[in-house]
Amino acid sequence: RKPKVTVVGSINMDLVVSASRMPEKGETLMGDDFHTYPGGKGANQAVAATRAGADVTLIGAVGVDSFGQELMTHLEKQKVNMSLVTRKKDVPTGIATIILAENDNRIIVTPGANHSLTPEDIKKQEETIRNSDIVLFQLETPVEVVIKAAELAHQAGVKTILNPAPFQPIPEELFETIKYFTPNETEVKELTSGGMDGRLQKKLIVTMGEQGVSYTQDEQSKHVAAYKVNAIDTTGAGDTFNGSLAAKLASGSELNEAIDFANASAALSVEKAGAQNGMPEKEEVEKYLQGVRGNLK
Ligand code: RIB
Ligand code: NA
Repeated sequence: RKPKVTVVGSINMDLVVSASRMPEKGETLMGDDFHTYPGGKGANQAVAATRAGADVTLIGAVGVDSFGQELMTHLEKQKVNMSLVTRKKDVPTGIATIILAENDNRIIVTPGANHSLTPEDIKKQEETIRNSDIVLFQLETPVEVVIKAAELAHQAGVKTILNPAPFQPIPEELFETIKYFTPNETEVKELTSGGMDGRLQKKLIVTMGEQGVSYTQDEQSKHVAAYKVNAIDTTGAGDTFNGSLAAKLASGSELNEAIDFANASAALSVEKAGAQNGMPEKEEVEKYLQGVRGNLK
């Protein structure tokens, strides 16, 4: 059977403007381009895990509005199981306002329906959580939701990954119930600002963009370099990493193998605009890795 990944997370519509540079304070600047792309860290990671070969169920919420409808239809088409996504009345679907300029992005997320998800909503999905191989979280949903779902997963012996993005302080109980934390360089600084917790250290997988990935396996620190690609849009690269990592670990791969796969997958994803466009299928990543290894021989 296919490995089962459950993602508890956000679903957003990304409103993306590109410009020649970032606007200054108080400045009105003419932009070059406008696109809407399906996004949200939860949905992005769900799509990445699906393409990496997992059977993926998304637990989340959208509003009863046109973006909500559009995202539901889109994600069903991507073969993500959307039957546990609730449509919440009186709140808008989450959106992200994204400015792309000078090879960089700036994002403001307005969570809307994502923040109306409750621990009670999670409690109802206990069965699905218990039957997963991996459960994956981010921090665009309320932290109480993450706490509840991680607790249910942990009790059932199901592995969990928390991508602590966008960063917010995390209660200590998550150091017990989460198996791996996947912060980027900025998030890891905040996560450890009160000192490095002994439980946390060996659970860290730190993604550093062009600097690659650092992690600990069998008590040893490891580092892998990033694959060199022609980056067009790095939005969602971290999500591609997380979704691919979850799918690989769910299929029983060793940590180093799963990280290598996720690292290559994230690299390939930035060659196309839009968070989910460009996320590669499993076969593409395997072919790419074979090519890279062939060249090294
Ligand atoms: O990680 C990228 C995502 O962050 C975007 O798709 C946007 O929706 C924000 O949530
Ligand atoms: Na992309």
